Amino acid sequence: MNVLKQLRDQFESALNSYTDEAPHFAAMIKPAGDPKFGDYQANCAMPLAESIGKNRRELAAELVASVDLDQLCQPLEVAGPGFINLTLRDDWLETAVNNLVNDKRLGVEPVAQPRNFIVDYSTPNVAKPMHVGHLRSTVIGAALYRILGCLGHNVVGDNHIGDWGTQFGMIIYGYKNFLDQSAYEEAPVLELSRLYRLVNQLSDYHAAAAELPQLRETLTEREDALTAAQQDADPKDKKAKKAVKQLNNQVVGLRDKIQAAEKKIATVDGDAKLKALADADPQIATAARNETAKLHAGDAENRALWDQFIPLCLEALQSVYDRLEIHFDKSLGESFYQPMLADVVADLQAKGIARESEAAICAFVEGFEAPFIVRKTDGAFTYATTDLATVKYRIEELKADSIIYVVDARQGDHFKLLFETVRKWGYTDVELQHVSFGTVLGEDKRAIKTRSGDPISLTWLLDEAVDEAYKIISQNDDAKPNGAELDDVERQRIAEIVGLGGVKYADLHHNRESDYEFNLKKMLATTGDTATYMQYAYARVCGILRRAEVDRESLRQSGATIQLSHNAERQLVLALLRFPEALAQAAAEYRPNYLTDYLFKTAGVFSGFYEHCPVAKAETDELRNSRLLLCDLTARVIAQGLELLGIHTSERM
Ligand code: ARG
Repeated sequence: MNVLKQLRDQFESALNSYTDEAPHFAAMIKPAGDPKFGDYQANCAMPLAESIGKNRRELAAELVASVDLDQLCQPLEVAGPGFINLTLRDDWLETAVNNLVNDKRLGVEPVAQPRNFIVDYSTPNVAKPMHVGHLRSTVIGAALYRILGCLGHNVVGDNHIGDWGTQFGMIIYGYKNFLDQSAYEEAPVLELSRLYRLVNQLSDYHAAAAELPQLRETLTEREDALTAAQQDADPKDKKAKKAVKQLNNQVVGLRDKIQAAEKKIATVDGDAKLKALADADPQIATAARNETAKLHAGDAENRALWDQFIPLCLEALQSVYDRLEIHFDKSLGESFYQPMLADVVADLQAKGIARESEAAICAFVEGFEAPFIVRKTDGAFTYATTDLATVKYRIEELKADSIIYVVDARQGDHFKLLFETVRKWGYTDVELQHVSFGTVLGEDKRAIKTRSGDPISLTWLLDEAVDEAYKIISQNDDAKPNGAELDDVERQRIAEIVGLGGVKYADLHHNRESDYEFNLKKMLATTGDTATYMQYAYARVCGILRRAEVDRESLRQSGATIQLSHNAERQLVLALLRFPEALAQAAAEYRPNYLTDYLFKTAGVFSGFYEHCPVAKAETDELRNSRLLLCDLTARVIAQGLELLGIHTSERM
């Protein structure tokens, strides 16, 4: 049962007599920021009074008189200019929390109207090793997948893998020209990714060499313009100042570009073997592109190679998914949609949504200069065409009501163009959401990379996290007052849980739109908002129950009840009852950090309870059982909340 929803529903009916926007005003009921204002606060009377021209306090009083919350709340109070303070009744809290004792769902009721969700997540481009950028999509997407499912929606997790892109041209070209047969036999995906990187590097080398003179020329020109602008600029002229700033940005940008190009050239020039390969093959980029074109045109040899590579790539991906316990219902990659693309373009053209422009076929969206290209000049279909076909398939075949794309913020424009085009195409009812997220940064505050400039491999990173977790667990265990409790097998098992949990939690507890710095020490810290802290909090609660020698299941069945005898208990009960609220909130905005926030706060409230309310040494047996039940419930809420985020717990740590 979702308390906030009940309160809002009640207010909504009352608000209906005053406004057509009752849900908007009802949404202004929020948990109270300060307990002295009660448990919840309704701040809707003031803005509503403003908009309908009524006295604020009078309206608040009328609302109070018309809602029916006597069972749930103590008499409502109007405060200040028209705030309504809501305090839940203790007897109601007791009944509600006792209903949770034997409720496996911890009060989470399935939604009244389940929707068909497609969650598009993880979606790496295969044949390149999966990197940390894909981790965010995978972890956030999997959490949303579980949360929506737990709320009773029908959810299809779909891994829209990039299995048809230009990387295959590079790999095929590399395979035909540079294959190390024995390396391929030993570790095929490693060899394929070496080939990909090699061909990419050689192509980049020639591209950099070709573009460098022009870049340098432009730089000189911009530098001169900057000097001139700086000399002329009147310090009071805002426009001139802005122009100087713009020129300066251009100069900095160009210098960065030149530096990057020079670095690419120097790396190859400095390696005799690479240099020889580069010199022997100046047209490598075109050659690789031709291999892609041949594959897309159905060339038998390239198709056979693709058929040979794909299962190997998928197997390598699967090992990462197995380790992270990620599940998909479907993995309909880009290749799946290829047979549909010609029809999509024809249909868009027939409906006047796409038209020819500079020999390409494009849709145009108001407010966007860039066209949404669905067929390139050379006839090739694009990422956009594939996504359009995918939406159509998901709506028509998979009966989607909502499609959510858990994808890097840098693809924001792509999704805006996609969604607008889909609307014009006639699919107006489906919900389309880009659940975007920021970049994972390295210590230098730039997108995380290895020293050589390659993306960090996910497997390496997970291993590092588990190694670091092992150290922390061993240290903590060795420091226990009565000596270590865990043998090495146990420590390893917990290190896996803590290491992977730490990485996942770090990804989830940030506002997903922000960039964040990848810092293992911070991620695995035992204090602060980390999985490690939450996992220790859980183990601590389990320790209390273990030392009290209670069998948790029998205790729940015993008929013992939770009673409120202290404000710290009341706070804990209130927190535990708000689990469904946190899930609903996380689902409503596709933000798993609402759930981590909730869990972190609940762990804090538990600490307050444990400080003030002796459990094992409670004054009476009744009180002892009541508090043990509260410990049990806290442990269950933390464990279930973390499970929904894909994070395991251990009763001992
Ligand atoms: N494979 C793409 C990439 O790695 C992401 C695909 C996201 N999903 C989609 N339907 N476009 O950039």
